[in-house]
Parts: sequence; structure tokens; C-alpha cells
Amino acid sequence: MLAATEAIGVNYADCVIRMGLYDSAKELVGWPITPGFEIAGTVTAVGEGVTDLAPGAKVLAVTMFGGYSTHVAVPRHQVFPLPSKLDAAQAAGFPTVFLTAYYALFELAHPRPGASILVHSAAGGVGSALVQLGRIAGCRVVGVVGSSHKVETARAMGADVVIDKSREDLWKVAEQASPRGYDVVLDANGVSTLPQSYAHLASPGKLVIYGFHSMMPRQGGKPKWLKLAWDWLRTPRYNPLTLTNDNTSVLAFNLSYLFEQKEILAEAMSRLLTWVEEGKLVAPPVKQFPLDQVAEAHRAIESGTTVGKLVLVP
Ligand SMILES: NC(=O)c1ccc[n+]([C@@H]2O[C@H](COP(=O)([O-])OP(=O)(O)OC[C@H]3O[C@@H](n4cnc5c(N)ncnc54)[C@H](OP(=O)(O)O)[C@@H]3O)[C@@H](O)[C@H]2O)c1
Repeated sequence: MLAATEAIGVNYADCVIRMGLYDSAKELVGWPITPGFEIAGTVTAVGEGVTDLAPGAKVLAVTMFGGYSTHVAVPRHQVFPLPSKLDAAQAAGFPTVFLTAYYALFELAHPRPGASILVHSAAGGVGSALVQLGRIAGCRVVGVVGSSHKVETARAMGADVVIDKSREDLWKVAEQASPRGYDVVLDANGVSTLPQSYAHLASPGKLVIYGFHSMMPRQGGKPKWLKLAWDWLRTPRYNPLTLTNDNTSVLAFNLSYLFEQKEILAEAMSRLLTWVEEGKLVAPPVKQFPLDQVAEAHRAIESGTTVGKLVLVP
């Protein structure tokens, strides 16, 4: 399918790709590379054999990189109808963070209703999606945010407790919020929180790791190699003997490889878009930038101060 893009989602991973540090981008495309995992737009042409989609249809799509464009060509199975409850900007920012959160919670962690889950960066893209999906799964959600202006967003997304780690002692409050520990902790910070995230698991408990953004600089746009190497050395390695004795699991994944898993992708998007139509999921707050000001959008998301999603408009 070929589509004219109306909006393009920005993800933290796009910055990591830009810095040349994203392994699956290297493996699947290589550099030079155009970032961009998701778009919303209008179909302009369909390939031979595609009968259920016609030019003029409003769609959203996941793109295996290359989304930062006025037009994208993607395989049919990566294209979905635009839900009536989302505008183009909200829809462009929807699939990557919700698929990431869905995969973490429903494919990997499988929390039971009533489970306590701890979500780091709970006002960000994936974090706020995890908060909403955690509520759908019937969990008690404790969200952690890095600054006070994010507290309201995390609460609005449905967190039962919000810990503002810029003002509160994160782990002391986390212990008060769930004295028996957490059934699931979802962590994309990396070394800055991983040891304590693991230490605060219940028995049984699952730590889901899906990013390492605390290794990256908040300004300057380039990796700081010494810090990167030091953080890499300090990143915990998990011993199977210890995991077994502790009755814990450590899970990790990379969404880049999901786009080829057609069945999981179709099932996940179908459930997510149904929840949107039913009003059970809402789009997080969206901030728009013109496509030619993509550098501003990257500076904003790298600063770690944004809430919800950033979207580019061609
Ligand atoms: N494994 C996968 O397949 C997959 C897929 C999508 C995204 N991800 C990962 O998920 C994470 C969230 O992605 P997103 O696009 O939704 O971004 P985001 O959450 O909107 O923004 C990143 C957030 O991380 C926190 N943070 C902590 N240390 C940071 C640092 N040094 N620099 C920048 N931010 C820092 C900040 O929130 P607080 O200060 O409030 O904590 C910031 O708002 C990223 O690590 C991304 O790589 C992984």
C-alpha cells in the first residue's frame, strides 16, 4: 500500500537510530536510514491482489523505519483502518507505544487481575500506554514520573498511585504503595533503576525490560561514549540460579521484530483498536511539530521532559 502521510509518530527510539546505536536498524536496514515507525494518512495506491483497501481510505500504519516521509509504501498487513475516535495526529502516535505496552503486558507479563504493577516513565509514550493497559488488565498501577509537571498526565491515564521521583524517595514510596513487592515492574530506564526494580519484585514477580534511556544524554544529541561504556558495564546480568531461587523472571523484547509476526500484530492491533472504539483506551496528549522541525521534536523527547506523544506533520 502507498499512503500520503498526514502525521508521523516520533519515538524515543528514533533518536537512538539517529545516533547510530539501534541494533535492529543496523541489522534490518543499515545507514543511511530514515527513522519512523508509524504514520497516519490517506491511501493513494494499493498493490496487486489487495482488494480490501482502496485509494482514499484513511489509515494508520506501522512502518519498518522510513516513516519520516510525505509518502510511505508498506505491506498490507501493517495497515489498519483509522479508528473513528482518533484524529490523524493521535492515530499516528498510537501504534508503536501501544503495541510495545501490549506486548510487554499481554504477551510477556500476563498479570492477573488485582496484580500490582510498577510502571516507570508513566507519563511518557510507552509508559502512559502501559498505565492504561494495566488498568484494562485489572491491575493496581503505580506510576513513576521524573518531574512534577508529569504527575497529572500519569493520573489522567489511570495510575492509582503516582510517585514523583524528583520530589519523593522513589523506592521508599514504592514500598509503601505495595509492601509485598510488585508482580510486574516495567522498566526502560536501564541501569539507573534496574537493580532496584528487580529488588522490588514480589514472589513470584516479573521484570520486563524494554529500553535503556538513562544511558543516553538529555542534551547534545550525541552519545557520551564514556558514560555509555560505564553504564553498559554496570548494567545487571541476571543469573539463572538466582532467578530460580528468587522465584522471579526477567523478560525483554524488541518490537522491531514484531512487524513480521503477522498473527500477533493483527491480534494486538485488533484488540487495541476495539478498546479505542469502546472508549476504554484514549490517546495520550499529543504535541505536533512540522516535519521540517524534526530536530526540535528530537531535542524535546531527548530532554526527558515531554509528556504523551510527539507527532510530525508534513
Ligand atoms: N523494546 C522495544 O521494542 C521498545 C519499543 C518502543 C519504545 N521502547 C523504549 O521505551 C522507552 C520509552 O519510549 P517513548 O518513545 O515512549 O519515550 P518517552 O517515554 O515519551 O520519553 C522517554 C522518557 O524516559 C525518561 N528518561 C529517563 N532517563 C532519560 C534520559 N536520560 N533521557 C531521556 N529520557 C529519559 C523520561 O521520563 P521520566 O523522567 O518521567 O522517567 C522521558 O520522558 C525508550 O527507552 C524506548 O527506547 C522500546
